[in-house]
Amino acid sequence: MVRAFFSGNMKQKIDFGKLADKFGTPLYVYDVNGMTDKIRAYKDNFKSDRFATKVLYASKAFSCDAMIRLVKEEGLCLDVVSGGELHVAERVGFDMSKVYFHGNNKSRAELEYALRLGVGTVIVDNFGELTLLEKLAKESGKKVKALFRLNIGVDAHTHKYISTTLFESKFGMMPASEEFRNCVALARQSGNVEFDGLHCHIGSQVFDTAAYKLAAEKMAAVLKQFTRPLTLNMGGGFGVRYTADDTPAATPALCRDMVSYVENALDNAGVKIKELLIEPGRSIAGEAGSTVYTVGFVKHIPTKTFYFVDGGMTDNIRPALYQAKYDCDVVGKESAEKTVKVTVAGKCCESGDLLIEDIMLPEAESGDRLVVYTTGAYGYSMSSNYNKACVPAVVFVKDGMARQVVRRQTYADLAACDTEDSGYEVL
Ligand code: LLP
Repeated sequence: MVRAFFSGNMKQKIDFGKLADKFGTPLYVYDVNGMTDKIRAYKDNFKSDRFATKVLYASKAFSCDAMIRLVKEEGLCLDVVSGGELHVAERVGFDMSKVYFHGNNKSRAELEYALRLGVGTVIVDNFGELTLLEKLAKESGKKVKALFRLNIGVDAHTHKYISTTLFESKFGMMPASEEFRNCVALARQSGNVEFDGLHCHIGSQVFDTAAYKLAAEKMAAVLKQFTRPLTLNMGGGFGVRYTADDTPAATPALCRDMVSYVENALDNAGVKIKELLIEPGRSIAGEAGSTVYTVGFVKHIPTKTFYFVDGGMTDNIRPALYQAKYDCDVVGKESAEKTVKVTVAGKCCESGDLLIEDIMLPEAESGDRLVVYTTGAYGYSMSSNYNKACVPAVVFVKDGMARQVVRRQTYADLAACDTEDSGYEVL
């Protein structure tokens, strides 16, 4: 069977070969026009005439100063999950009232940092966290809004590791739990933490929009117990196209579906909300990003041909971690006949370091460039220094012009945190 190929979704023609010559490989390349189009599609279409709407960019998908600055310029709100992601927001001067702080185990230092910066909303995962947040907010005389994260038990039909509301998930509280009731009670009597609404996130790389419909119904049922119109945050997780087999809904249709699922669910439950939030990450950064590699050796074994590339699981852990599938092209040979069945393997000391298994590609030789599409989300953000690999540079391409926004790590960077101590000290 001839497999259909997906050759990326770039909004502009990008000369990957030229970029590789200039900036080296491996290289993360982002089509800024593509990201801006996506952001605007969300802003223009995620609307209701019944309640306010907000789109938060989930910065865990891809965060660096340039990206968060783009999100700021485009006027989205921001979802952060750590002090580190919050620090990026601080560095680029993000309006803190538009920042939403997530995470199931925020530390005291992180909560203090958030309060100090004036973060608008904390998404509270559990009662322990709310107790600490309340105490810290009171002590510092700060006010903060809180959304409570619920685990509503909806199967998002995605990979187990990125499914978040199965009943055994570590995230959020069961709507019928004592823990959730205690949170509501504690926030009610707090002068510093204002209970502002509810949050759910059913998983990631979700195509089954019926799962969001069910989630909206479950959330509406919970909202019914509150008399005041609250905020409802439906999370993110909207699927993207990694290969031709993936058929995500177009953003305008997705937005309209989400809004109408929520409107209908609220009507059926007889509930009103003041605002509706979503938190896309992957669907903003994913398809706009590609990774360019240089082919090193081509190796034939009786059952396989390997194209070895100069990166691998250190710049894209997703194939090893989630069995994620990708498509790629040999740069400059996009239209050549795909005659060889190949496994694209990385350079890590790890048998599982295979980026793409059994893909038909043209003949390639050492020095050719290979571009893997749709690596923009959770590629750079999950990169590692395993085998002391240096994290690649990131280049933004806008209107045909390129700009490096993150430089490649150097060996000196790898050693930057090593401390040469004078000896052991008694504790
Ligand atoms: N909101 C919450 C509460 C989340 O936990 C996540 C993702 C998002 C929004 C954004 O989801 P997105 O729209 O990007 O799918 N490393 C995995 C994905 C983990 C997602 C974690 N949470 C991967 O590479 O597929």
